[in-house]
Amino acid sequence: MAPALSNPLLSDRVARSKKVPSSHVRAVGDRPDLANVDHESGAGIPLIDLKQLEGPGRRRVVEAIGSACENDGFFMVTNHGIPEAVVEGMLSVAREFFHLPESERLKCYSDDPKKAVRLSTSFNVRTEKVSNWRDFLRLHCYPLESFVDQWPSNPPAFRQVVGTYSTEARALALRLLEAISESLGLDRGHMVKAMGRHAQHMAVNYYPPCPQPELTYGLPGHKDPNAITLLLQDGVSGLQVQRDGRWVAVNPVPNALVINIGDQLQALSNDRYKSVNHRVIVNSASERISVPTFYCPSPDTVVAPADALVDDAHPRAYRPFTYQEYYEEFWKMGLQSASCLDRFRRIE
Ligand code: OGA
Ligand code: NI
Repeated sequence: MAPALSNPLLSDRVARSKKVPSSHVRAVGDRPDLANVDHESGAGIPLIDLKQLEGPGRRRVVEAIGSACENDGFFMVTNHGIPEAVVEGMLSVAREFFHLPESERLKCYSDDPKKAVRLSTSFNVRTEKVSNWRDFLRLHCYPLESFVDQWPSNPPAFRQVVGTYSTEARALALRLLEAISESLGLDRGHMVKAMGRHAQHMAVNYYPPCPQPELTYGLPGHKDPNAITLLLQDGVSGLQVQRDGRWVAVNPVPNALVINIGDQLQALSNDRYKSVNHRVIVNSASERISVPTFYCPSPDTVVAPADALVDDAHPRAYRPFTYQEYYEEFWKMGLQSASCLDRFRRIE
């Protein structure tokens, strides 16, 4: 349902504006401090070639994934198996969607985070005081047949193209979860089993060009609440990860996807693997599109680590909780540097 407020979406409000509206201006101490960002050569995070994942080189690739999960929480993958045409199709239908006339896009507008398909802006307009420089379409993707008929039907190719991408992204998520299980010394199928019936959400993020990027965020620092995120980004930089208290730019690498550990894998690994703080910066020159796939346990799943990861030196870090309980807490809390996971930490 379209809201009563006119121009609820950022892209329609700011199209020609030279100034960031006060609704999006951060307090002085809460701005991105763009001069203080590390721009490392290369990706800024480990780059892992998955070509040998199913071959004789599997052990080496699994070890590289394990050490990235443990030390960085973030890595990039090449030769990930999602065909280039599927990736390109996803990005172009995303761009087409956000370039549709406002009236057409607003058919999907909702500010209710519980909806399986919705277009919105910022992060959670119901709870936050300062808005973020982002519009986004959020879709539940798995099981595909339960949701695809609710997805936008314009652009006409949307359902087919996004359905194909999300199916490929799921297959990659499952391969990564197997490799991650092995890297922890667990059965290959452990994490896949530990996540119940599974769920998969996608955000199609649209960050319009911003006249004053130093005043606002595309997304402020946060950790992802799900298990593992597979991020497709166009060629425009914007993602930054926090490492040793410094912000490091993650520059797009052609044909690579960014993978990061979310809070549920941190909990399922009993704190071995880290869900790391990251944020999105906007820029004045160009729009940016990114498509994170959030792979998660089904809502009824009780999230608890494997017994093999618990011993006297590594006691259970969290009380058992259902993913539904966690997810509701996450949306209520909003994006902030305090970790939602800390609220579930077991205090001895
Ligand atoms: C997110 C996120 C990164 C990006 O949507 O949770 O971190 O580059 N996105 O858009
Ligand atoms: Ni994120």
